[in-house]
Amino acid sequence: MHPLLERQIRKHLAPEVAEGLGDFLNAVDHAYRHTDAARHLVERSMDLMSEELNSRLEEKLDTEAALKQEKQEQEALIKRLEAAHNQLLQSEKMASIGQLAAGVAHEINNPIGYVGSNLGTLRGYVDRLLNVLAAFEAIERELPEGSVRDRLATLKAESDLTYLKIDISELLAETGDGISRVRRIVQDLKDFSHADQGEWVLADLRKGLESTLNVVNNEIKYKARVVREYGELPALRCLPAQLNQVFMNLLINAAHAIEGQGTITIRTGVVNEEARVEIADTGKGIPAHLLTRIFDPFFTTKPVGVGTGLGLSISWGIVQKHGGRIEVESEPGRGTTFRVVLPLHPPPSSDHE
Ligand SMILES: Nc1ncnc2c1ncn2[C@@H]1O[C@H](COP(=O)(O)OP(=O)(O)OP(=O)(O)O)[C@@H](O)[C@H]1O
Ligand SMILES: [Mg+2]
Repeated sequence: MHPLLERQIRKHLAPEVAEGLGDFLNAVDHAYRHTDAARHLVERSMDLMSEELNSRLEEKLDTEAALKQEKQEQEALIKRLEAAHNQLLQSEKMASIGQLAAGVAHEINNPIGYVGSNLGTLRGYVDRLLNVLAAFEAIERELPEGSVRDRLATLKAESDLTYLKIDISELLAETGDGISRVRRIVQDLKDFSHADQGEWVLADLRKGLESTLNVVNNEIKYKARVVREYGELPALRCLPAQLNQVFMNLLINAAHAIEGQGTITIRTGVVNEEARVEIADTGKGIPAHLLTRIFDPFFTTKPVGVGTGLGLSISWGIVQKHGGRIEVESEPGRGTTFRVVLPLHPPPSSDHE
């Protein structure tokens, strides 16, 4: 027992009682020490239990971490599966659009061929007829005044011959121009279609942009002024028809985003050994919370029947196949810029696709 405590107890007790107290205090002390040992034992076993609990907790945490990692691996796998699925969707959509474009181009090519050739012949005939007419008119002036000359004059006035002679040439020129335009569209459709699908060739992306612009001109021309800011861009080893598909999706999206009138700016250039094609619009922009979803297959904010929501996911797949990426910056109310970034030298794996 603590000497201080013993002194206190003795002080409060009568001396004769305190005399016999020694044994009693020893007994109490012994009992205390005994209890103390028991308490130590309990404490020790509680320590052991708590150690055991801690180690079990650590095991549980380890299992949780392993589960979490497994979940992340599964998510990555699902993403890879989704990407593969996108590629499949893309090739199916590309194949059908390509077939359609190639079919239409082929069907138009034939008639436009003979219309063009006939127009050339017609132009020759008309020139000859006009020459003959000029000869008749020269003779007409030599005719004596009288009924024949009057009748010819009336006939000429009634059929507006002077105007016809001028307009016939203009009509033929305009028609020729129209045929050239149709020919160009057919050529664009051919370039655009997948005649070269699967073939990696060196191509000038600016040419691809131009032929794509011709194809989508109708969708754009009433909505936006197209500004070209083409910088230097070396020929790139790529699948041109597929990249044209990307440009088409981006251009049509840009036009759709513009309510009323706006501007679409197309920029090309090289930054840090990477080719860049930017398509910027002054459209309605994309809210920040949707920026992560726009590349998801079937994500669309367009009404049913207008958008399938596949354009960007397919584009993403195509650009990835080229070892590149698509970046997007958008400011709601101001506009959006999509940037296709492609390595100047595609990864070797793409050679085998
Ligand atoms: N330039 C843009 N400006 C604003 N929103 C855009 C732009 N481009 C894409 N978006 C948004 O991203 C969504 C997905 O685009 P995506 O091209 O994948 O599909 P879509 O245009 O809706 O349909 P489609 O399959 O016909 O292309 C669009 O519905 C639109 O909300
Ligand atoms: Mg689209």
